[in-house]
Amino acid sequence: MIVLGIESSCDDTGVALVENGQKILGGARASQEKVHAQYGGIVPEVACRMHYETLLPLVQKVCAASGKSLADVDAIAVTNQPGLVGSLYVGLSAAKALAWALQKPLVTVDHIEAHIYAAHLADPDLDYPHVSVVVSGGHTDIFLSTGPTEHALITRTLDDAAGECFDKVAALLGIGYPGGPAVQATSLGGNREAVAYPRGDAGPEGLQISFSGLKTAVLNDLRKRGFVVEAAKNAGRLITARAPETPVPASETRTLSVRLPLADIAASFQEAAVDILVRATLAATRKARCRSVVLCGGVAANKRLREVMAAACKAQKNTHFMAAPLNLCTDNAEMIAGLGFHKLVTGQISGLDADVLPNKDEKRQKAGTA
Ligand code: KG4
Ligand code: ZN
Repeated sequence: MIVLGIESSCDDTGVALVENGQKILGGARASQEKVHAQYGGIVPEVACRMHYETLLPLVQKVCAASGKSLADVDAIAVTNQPGLVGSLYVGLSAAKALAWALQKPLVTVDHIEAHIYAAHLADPDLDYPHVSVVVSGGHTDIFLSTGPTEHALITRTLDDAAGECFDKVAALLGIGYPGGPAVQATSLGGNREAVAYPRGDAGPEGLQISFSGLKTAVLNDLRKRGFVVEAAKNAGRLITARAPETPVPASETRTLSVRLPLADIAASFQEAAVDILVRATLAATRKARCRSVVLCGGVAANKRLREVMAAACKAQKNTHFMAAPLNLCTDNAEMIAGLGFHKLVTGQISGLDADVLPNKDEKRQKAGTA
């Protein structure tokens, strides 16, 4: 059975064809990174319009490249939760139109569950239960997963998501958007112990996750070093210290790299963020009495996080560790089609009255599952 997957919950448009929930026949992504980079973050209205322009041409492209036509498709799977409301609507509307025109079933998919499923796409032998660590731009959630759509929350961030923290710190450092890859690249060769950024209070069980203190610590550190941050005026660039009310001529703005050991700051920040995630993951495995960990979501692409998490799992009772493959960590439609197949064969089909659920805590019953 071939499932056409559609992903448009945030700022990447993705389309993929996956056979029997396992074999990727084709897939493509249209990134909006360059457009949003001008604003230092995602502009929802722009994201929505770009999905609208890109989605159907991408469907045609993926079909052509994989030598399939829409007539070969057995079902349409689409992300309907959580995400940006307008972006979700573009994907869901297109999926409904295709399902209706082709007279094929529509399957709505939870984006977070799909991130977890990405690991199963790569390794069909990967079994349940496992502790799933979902780290992305919008989510930092740790679940005990007992099936593809059965995930019990163990802990989640109290404030910022991990990816959001990488993005904000990268903006402070003026090194680009999205911040995760920029921090990773900048930290190469840097000293991870140069600055002891705080890891926050882990709480009595070690499960507490918070990133806002870390972000503020980087900001305060930069200020202490004599830089003021004028994010609004200079799109996150740092300028040399002066009274904030003094106008700064554009010719005097400088990027931090020439004034500070940028690699050390990036490496020290990255190490703190990694430590926070690893500490909570190990606590979650102890709490759930589970010796298997799956790492997924955009931040799971981080090399240092994969490395430290793998070593920490091994050291804790030889806990099995698996990270989603790099190409399936950030948003993609392969994971949507994969999970869509599982839902299709287990009868979890949606009606054409299915709606979007932008907030992750909204009740799933509202999703229109028949
Ligand atoms: O899963 P994803 O594509 O979208 C959401 O569902 O949010 O994740 C995007 C996030 C961004 O915050 C980005 O900076 C982060 O993942 N990211 C990384 C890396 N690659 C992407 N964070 C740290 N290191 C990376 N190599
Ligand atoms: Zn995502």
